[in-house]
Amino acid sequence: MNFVLCGMMGSGKTRLGKRIAELSFRNWLDTDDVIVEKYGKISEIFEKFGETYFREKETETVKILCRLDGYVFSTGGGLVLKDENVRLLKTSGKILYLRAKKETLLSRLSGDTKRPLLQGRESLEEKIDRLLKERAPVYERVADVVLDVDGKSVEENAKRALELLQGVEK
Ligand code: S3P
Repeated sequence: MNFVLCGMMGSGKTRLGKRIAELSFRNWLDTDDVIVEKYGKISEIFEKFGETYFREKETETVKILCRLDGYVFSTGGGLVLKDENVRLLKTSGKILYLRAKKETLLSRLSGDTKRPLLQGRESLEEKIDRLLKERAPVYERVADVVLDVDGKSVEENAKRALELLQGVEK
């Protein structure tokens, strides 16, 4: 059984994932890291080959990861939008949605220059609004458990996340 963290960019999937893994003596992997190691920087993948290509690499990564056991996976913010990825992940684990308010995301993502989906004309607030509207219902639907992360420390969130995941583990 694996634990899978999903949610918006800036919701804390990476930091919390690492801490949950430490607390539960699991290994930890981030889908973006796996892709970067094989194919190079995310921003360059988007630039040279486009988003569709990146999404194919995400699915290839999920196919490999879902054969593992005893891991915590932090996923890229768009990964669970594809049904196939969710189906595969659910064969091997439980999904936790890290739900964050727009204000939290805004403060964490302001000044980001690395994430391709945050670049471009629209203001950061408009982008977050649009992505949240599209994605929040999907995150809610695919998740086995949901944690509201706003205003709490990584430690508090990691402990609560672990309780929630262990509660649906069986
Ligand atoms: C994306 C989120 C990023 C990364 C890519 C696309 C998205 O990961 O996978 O830039 O579609 O939301 P993080 O959520 O870890 O920032």
